[in-house]
Amino acid sequence: MMSLADFYNGKRVFVTGHTGFKGSWLCSWLKLMGSEVCGYALEPNTDPSLFRILELETRVKSVIADIRDHEKLDAVISEFDPEIVFHLAAQPLVRRSYKEPKLTFETNVLGTVNLLEAARSLESIRSFVNITTDKCYENREWVWGYRETDAMGGHDPYSSSKGCSELVTSCYRASFFQNTDIALASARSGNVIGGGDWAEDRLIPDIVRSLVTDKELIIRNPKAVRPWQHVLEPLSGYLLLGRFLYEKGQQYAEPWNLGPHEIDSLCVEDVLRKFIEIWGKGSYKIESEGNPPETTLLRLDVSKALQKLGWRPQMTSEEAIGRTIEWYKQFYADQEAAKSLLEKQIREYEEKLGEAGA
Ligand SMILES: NC(=O)c1ccc[n+]([C@@H]2O[C@H](COP(=O)([O-])OP(=O)(O)OC[C@H]3O[C@@H](n4cnc5c(N)ncnc54)[C@H](O)[C@@H]3O)[C@@H](O)[C@H]2O)c1
Repeated sequence: MMSLADFYNGKRVFVTGHTGFKGSWLCSWLKLMGSEVCGYALEPNTDPSLFRILELETRVKSVIADIRDHEKLDAVISEFDPEIVFHLAAQPLVRRSYKEPKLTFETNVLGTVNLLEAARSLESIRSFVNITTDKCYENREWVWGYRETDAMGGHDPYSSSKGCSELVTSCYRASFFQNTDIALASARSGNVIGGGDWAEDRLIPDIVRSLVTDKELIIRNPKAVRPWQHVLEPLSGYLLLGRFLYEKGQQYAEPWNLGPHEIDSLCVEDVLRKFIEIWGKGSYKIESEGNPPETTLLRLDVSKALQKLGWRPQMTSEEAIGRTIEWYKQFYADQEAAKSLLEKQIREYEEKLGEAGA
């Protein structure tokens, strides 16, 4: 079977949210495979920023603009005329969504509407993948993994906005894309880890900040179970899905869960302990009071992606944490070398995919 790299070589790919953590990894991978990439997002909002470290502004066509500005978005996407769209731009932080619910809904829901509207008028697009999250499900606090057919929901504004983005996606698919060449899917993945994330209020960036400043880490919700994965795992699912939509069309135009094997659904404290053990130092304190409520039990059923996409996780949680630590340690020792390490990690992951026949 043709490899992902063979498929993406020469394809015109539009990525929203390319200045963020996942977007920077995705653009790096696409560039390694030989795609022509146009990114659309706001300026990076962390310092350090993976986008800046990788100098992606010189390697992709990078447009710094707001997804809420539909006129600008229309103009940029129609000029680039993409074949494949990955929509990652979002306000992705739960805590910030409590402080700025309106901004979160405008970005995550109307931003998706703006992009889908822009896509409607373009004949070049074959695949459109909307990246949402495991948090889009109505949370039942049950032990089973959510299936793609379960109800959308979300108590906090972030989760709810992603549930809404899913509903918008399914509406556009049924109302506007069914008899067209645009195959529209969504991908729901869990919490990702990997080198180069410095977002606020996220476990791994918080651990890294505490380790490099020698400060004790304070954690909330230590027993919250999440589907943690290395960032390359869901990205391989997005890429696979983009390809299936392109080659096989509407039969793949549906929602897809992408998450770890059941055994690798760890709680926050497990991840933290493993991280400290592999890094070789660190300490933490639990302070749960005064924090906004968050879901404590969240698992994904990934049977559909396993069966129909042939996608499967390639790393154990230990390996994922190991690779993450390897990258951050390299970054704090030698920033230039961290750039090539990221590419090496992508190449090694491609080899794993090749060995697995994906
Ligand atoms: N990181 C995770 O654990 C995780 C898990 C599940 C799903 N996701 C989803 O993956 C996507 C990427 O997440 P990330 O972790 O890379 O987040 P990030 O904060 O690092 O990146 C977000 C990106 O969206 C862009 N963006 C935000 N508001 C925008 C606006 N108004 N106009 C244009 N661009 C805007 C930012 O500039 C940035 O490029 C998001 O849709 C997020 O919901 C992330």
